Amino acid sequence: MKIAVVGTGYVGLVTGTCLAEVGMEVTCIDIDQKKIDNLKQGILPIYEPGLEEMVLRNTEKGRLQFSTNLAESIQDADVAFIAVGTPPGEDGSADLKYVLGVAREIGRNMNNYMVVVTKSTVPVGTANKVRAALEDELSARGKAFDFDVASNPEFLKEGAAIEDFLKPDRIVIGVESEKAEGIMSKVYKPFLLNGHPIIFMDIPSAEMTKYAANSMLATKISFMNDIANLCEIMGADVNMVRKGIGSDARIGNKFIYPGIGYGGSCFPKDVKALIKTAADNGYQMQILESVESVNENQKSVLFNKIKKHFGGDLAGKTFALWGLSFKPKTDDMREAPSLVIIEKLLAEGCKVKAYDPVAMKEAQHIIGDKIEYANDQNEALVDADALLIVTEWPEFRSPNFKVVGKLMRDKVIFDGRNIYDTKEMQDAGFTYYGIGVKPYYHSTVEIA
Ligand code: UDX
Repeated sequence: MKIAVVGTGYVGLVTGTCLAEVGMEVTCIDIDQKKIDNLKQGILPIYEPGLEEMVLRNTEKGRLQFSTNLAESIQDADVAFIAVGTPPGEDGSADLKYVLGVAREIGRNMNNYMVVVTKSTVPVGTANKVRAALEDELSARGKAFDFDVASNPEFLKEGAAIEDFLKPDRIVIGVESEKAEGIMSKVYKPFLLNGHPIIFMDIPSAEMTKYAANSMLATKISFMNDIANLCEIMGADVNMVRKGIGSDARIGNKFIYPGIGYGGSCFPKDVKALIKTAADNGYQMQILESVESVNENQKSVLFNKIKKHFGGDLAGKTFALWGLSFKPKTDDMREAPSLVIIEKLLAEGCKVKAYDPVAMKEAQHIIGDKIEYANDQNEALVDADALLIVTEWPEFRSPNFKVVGKLMRDKVIFDGRNIYDTKEMQDAGFTYYGIGVKPYYHSTVEIA
């Protein structure tokens, strides 16, 4: 199989590299010359565990190539994946100018039948626009090559993208011909060894599946954040409630962890886009509107607790902040709750000393020198009035609390991810605040 992947961002790079890993001949294409030059030397634009080694291995074997020349790279390709960005426009809808620009360029240069697949998250109806762009360019050339369009949404989680690609829960593909179905089956056959299905469907349903999946997951999170906030008011503990409801198989125990709001490149963008698509078509997504506003509020929950603890006056206080990225194992700062918390603390005249295992450079691009960047997690604690847990990196889970307490000015922890145990924190002499957890431990079990 000869594959072209257009766009070497997160999705394109992972897709191209994993397809090369199973033996396909892949060219990843991007207009950014610097990015392509770097990739040829094994320098990646993003951090993703395991990806760098995989890029190097497949480049060395000659199965994975990088190029800025789309025209040349798509010659004789069986499949072209479009994996360029779809940034949200001001009104929340996905901007398709890059996707359709690539479709046109493919139309201007294709030399045989191929399946043109949208991999970027695109609104329902985009495949029709891609088809029209291709037809337009082909007819301008006076050519009539046969082609198919298809939709193949990705469900990759940052930090676990390779694992997700190699062992997917499912692969969803929207097609409109048996020929395209046959080719796409061949592309994905090597990834179905774990027994999970490839689900073929019509194109609009495939396009909708991606938005529905992300919106459902975002809904679970906002729902649990709402429950957590109510638990605090009612004297319940959300960790108990989470276990209590998660053991019902119909609810499930995944993705029901309260925190300080979802971030990243997918959930915020996709929830907004689905609300907008619905509105454009005369339908109001009431649940998703609430999901979004609960999430916005949740980003302030930790700050509100801090303000309350210090009696409203935060001027001159120093805060150690552990974790900057929107979630662990990534350097992605897009829509990260840390940005909201930092902005609020700075506005109150506080000093912030932050540490993140991989996102410091990325954070520096965005926040600049308005905060201090510590060399390690302990350095961030020196003279801090409180410690804030913002991202649940594994290395933050079990620090030496004796050392932590000694380095800080005051032993106070605001844990935005509920990674510590209330009782253990209390025993170690810390004032501990979680999200929806009881401030003090009350055993409900009588020990004889
Ligand atoms: C998500 C989807 O999981 C993936 O299938 C899709 O392709 C892209 O969007 P990603 O953005 O990488 O992936 O992150 P994910 O691990 O899903 O977490 C998203 C956000 O939800 C994070 O901010 C995380 O902290 C938050 N979250 C997740 C919670 O607050 N609670 C949970 O229980 C789970």
